[in-house]
Amino acid sequence: MSLDVGLIRKDFPILGRTVRDGKRLIYLDNGATSQKPQQVLDAEMNFYLMHNAAAHRGAHQLAEEATEAFENARATVARFLGAADEEIVITKSATESLNLLAYSMGNAPSNNRFHIAPGDRIVVTEMEHHANLIPWQELAKRTGAELVWLSIDSEGRLDLSKLDTVINGKTRVVSLTHQSNVLGTINPLDKIVARAHEVGSVVILDACQSAPHMRINVKELGIDFLTFSGHKALGPTGVGVLWGKSDLLEELPPFLFGGSMIDTVTMLDSTWAPAPRKFEAGVPNMAQAVGLQAGLEYLEKVGMEKIHAHELNLTQQFIQGLSKIEGIEIFGPTTTESRGGVVSFAVPDIHPHDLGQFLDNQGIAVRTGHHCAWPLNKALGVQSTTRASFYLYNEAHEIDSLLDGIQQAQEYFGRSR
Ligand code: ALA
Repeated sequence: MSLDVGLIRKDFPILGRTVRDGKRLIYLDNGATSQKPQQVLDAEMNFYLMHNAAAHRGAHQLAEEATEAFENARATVARFLGAADEEIVITKSATESLNLLAYSMGNAPSNNRFHIAPGDRIVVTEMEHHANLIPWQELAKRTGAELVWLSIDSEGRLDLSKLDTVINGKTRVVSLTHQSNVLGTINPLDKIVARAHEVGSVVILDACQSAPHMRINVKELGIDFLTFSGHKALGPTGVGVLWGKSDLLEELPPFLFGGSMIDTVTMLDSTWAPAPRKFEAGVPNMAQAVGLQAGLEYLEKVGMEKIHAHELNLTQQFIQGLSKIEGIEIFGPTTTESRGGVVSFAVPDIHPHDLGQFLDNQGIAVRTGHHCAWPLNKALGVQSTTRASFYLYNEAHEIDSLLDGIQQAQEYFGRSR
């Protein structure tokens, strides 16, 4: 069963606008951020119009409604991930979720299971975006731990041949992306999770590029923590998710301190509320959480399986089209097996920024640059690439327009040389 993309597009006001002197907008930068349906905008506005108050504080009706709205949003996130409500921490972004984990581990005393000592190992992969690399670099520097990584092979998949030596008995943390934001590769978790657990390490999954695009069930994945951001999943900016197994969240020390996250406070000391509240200091981002709830409900209503299948059709169409254009190099898997709807490529003799500008003049929005994954670009042997990333509202004719645009760019820049 395919998606009724025409119907879906009607819900996204921005897709009806034109850019660059009347060109119809073709938005293919969904890996960076998604567009928002009217339902998300309405939910957020309705919160401010009717229910705005500080959640978890106050005895008045609005405070009660704000609390209920925020907790309902948490419950929706939990359902979306196949998790329990109390396992969901609402943060301001996936980047904050990952920093929360890294800082909390850095705060762990020596009798805590998350304590990281000199010589311990933190494992990432070569395909991480900066949000899942730099917090671990910094934690390694603060604690004296060693940061090591799994490399990629020539197809842009993880090379697992050294899995057992990279994830060794010293490993305390394995943090990896579910789907690469540059290559589109979906990583094989089974072997990695099994090896990490064998040596007593936790596994953190950065699901920024997967949770908005495919069905996720944290229990089936067997991981320990998961993060994703709201704004890539039809939701507003300023809201992210951290999921963690209950017992692990209980043991993990807090990162941000302040109101709401406490149990008792005296002038000299404080104790913490149970998770997830322990990780939600301050008045929470209620309106954004409510917006995210509407975004996730929208995705659920359309159906995650259908969304993933639709994006793979577009990906196949695009990869096939690219393979017919002379000289194009695709970075990442060239089949739709274990990959998502993100395709990075290079057109010979055209700098990605020039190509991006040329396409932009035709109303086509793609991302160019290192995609916040600089070390991966180095491993691929390039400074930057052009990236198209698809979502549920993209149409086959938009892929045709992109392919046409690339060919026109080749003619244009070929002539000007
Ligand atoms: N990580 C985001 C991207 O891939 C910003 O574009």
